[in-house]
Amino acid sequence: MPQTEELAEKIQRRRTFAIISHPDAGKTTLTEKLLLYGGAIRLAGTVKGRKAEKYAVSDWMEIEKQRGISVTSSVMQFDYDGFHINILDTPGHQDFSEDTYRTLVAADSAVMLIDGAKGVEAQTIKLFHVCRMRGIPIFTFVNKMDRFTKDPFDLMEELEQVLGIRACPMNWPIGSGTDFKGVYNRTQKRIELFTSEGHGQKMVAATTGTADDPRFRELLGEKLYDQLCEDIALLDEAGDAFDLEKVKQGELTPMYFGSAMTNFGVQPFLEDFLSYAPAPAPRKTAEGDMEPTQAAFSGFVFKIQANMNPAHRDRIAFIRICSGRFEKEMTVYQTRTKKNIRLAQPQQFLAQDRNIVEEAYAGDIIGVFDPGVFHIGDTLCPPGQSFHFEGIPMFPAEHFANVTIKDAMKRKQFLKGVEQIAEEGAIQLFKQPFAGYESLIVGVVGVLQLEVLEYRLKNEYKVDVRMEQLPYGYARWVVPAKFTTERIGYTNDALVVQDAYDRQVVLFTNEWFMRRTVDENKDAQFLDIPPVL
Ligand code: G4P
Repeated sequence: MPQTEELAEKIQRRRTFAIISHPDAGKTTLTEKLLLYGGAIRLAGTVKGRKAEKYAVSDWMEIEKQRGISVTSSVMQFDYDGFHINILDTPGHQDFSEDTYRTLVAADSAVMLIDGAKGVEAQTIKLFHVCRMRGIPIFTFVNKMDRFTKDPFDLMEELEQVLGIRACPMNWPIGSGTDFKGVYNRTQKRIELFTSEGHGQKMVAATTGTADDPRFRELLGEKLYDQLCEDIALLDEAGDAFDLEKVKQGELTPMYFGSAMTNFGVQPFLEDFLSYAPAPAPRKTAEGDMEPTQAAFSGFVFKIQANMNPAHRDRIAFIRICSGRFEKEMTVYQTRTKKNIRLAQPQQFLAQDRNIVEEAYAGDIIGVFDPGVFHIGDTLCPPGQSFHFEGIPMFPAEHFANVTIKDAMKRKQFLKGVEQIAEEGAIQLFKQPFAGYESLIVGVVGVLQLEVLEYRLKNEYKVDVRMEQLPYGYARWVVPAKFTTERIGYTNDALVVQDAYDRQVVLFTNEWFMRRTVDENKDAQFLDIPPVL
């Protein structure tokens, strides 16, 4: 087979997606079941240490100490039916959502997991909107059907009312709670009966058969059977027909009902998903679209995780491959620094294990050892070329604190710590002009990050800090940067600072004052994300 065809075929078989959900909807459980079907694990209950959202901050930190575990869950890979699948984990805790949002940039589609009893919840709404913005297809899995749930028509309505997306149910639940009997598969026109045997630890073999089989009237009982026939007739008549084009545009979501815990509906979902979800698509650069099938490797860094293993102080940069083929130890050109670098110790992640990868293809996620040279958003292109992938979002910080070292002798470690943590994208650093480096202003999207910062500085960098929360809620980068405190007037409502690259930033306490400043200074622009350097 010619090389280009072989490359195209490999890329065509790649599916890279994120599962988005509100904490507790069953993301860990579903991920685990997908891995189970992929043969990546043999028994459910193996994927641990990911329930950060359920713990208090201190517990979460204890868990993070064992980051070897949680990071393997940042991305998981497995093969199924000739497909190579990359599942991106999106941390569930709302305070870590900035990281989550960036992770979504690396995905080609999303699975939106909803707790059937709770419907669309807050965190799901936020994540959904990021997926929407990116225009990626969203597949809906309504979970926990083995328990009492909302009416499925009401859930469809909720998707439309709350999220503004129409749903096309691909299967339809029969009964609910203790009365849950299974689903009707609308594409194949057959009934799949529910059994909770094996407590969801092993793969289930569902009993199936066509709906007109008289056996089912008997098995389901007159009432449920009639209800099902009525529901299906209504859906066929009044519901949206499945339209793959609309799904690809993110205008219609295929909706599946199942129960991750008992494995019910997981395999049919996976198979449908793999056939409908898109293979890696072209990615935008300022110079035009980059086709995944371009032979030369390119990609971008969307996540950096430091100190995954405290004993080795290692730092991993996660790269989404956008085109071509990746080879171990290859040299790439880093657009930001204009330097060639070698990608050392490339790793892929399989359930609990990390493996060195020899090769990977467009669509795949790899982790490379980072000696401190990568930043989030870095484009890596073939040596001799120079371009930049667009669209890695930065989120404006909403909480600010003055962070001061207790022991001035530890200044070096302090700066190293805050800079490294800032490079991971967890915090944004600001400095008051003419102030020293013993005290810096830190901006975060979620306030819990301040506690995480304090903890990490102490444990990873051996630096004790004092943290004083500041009253600001908004940061705006000023262009052109000729703003002085005099111009705003001496006020407690704003503060002029510089970011890590000496760009000028004004912090505001309230929106009203910020608007007034913007109105009174028409010769300057106030940007909520940093201007490109
Ligand atoms: P998350 O990652 O989205 O936070 O959710 P996770 O998978 O941890 O699931 C949250 C809880 O919901 C767990 O119960 C899990 O067992 C349960 N769950 C997941 N899928 C289903 C399902 O299909 N049906 C039912 N009935 N429950 C489901 P837990 O009691 O909090 O934890 P555990 O002790 O079971 O591990």
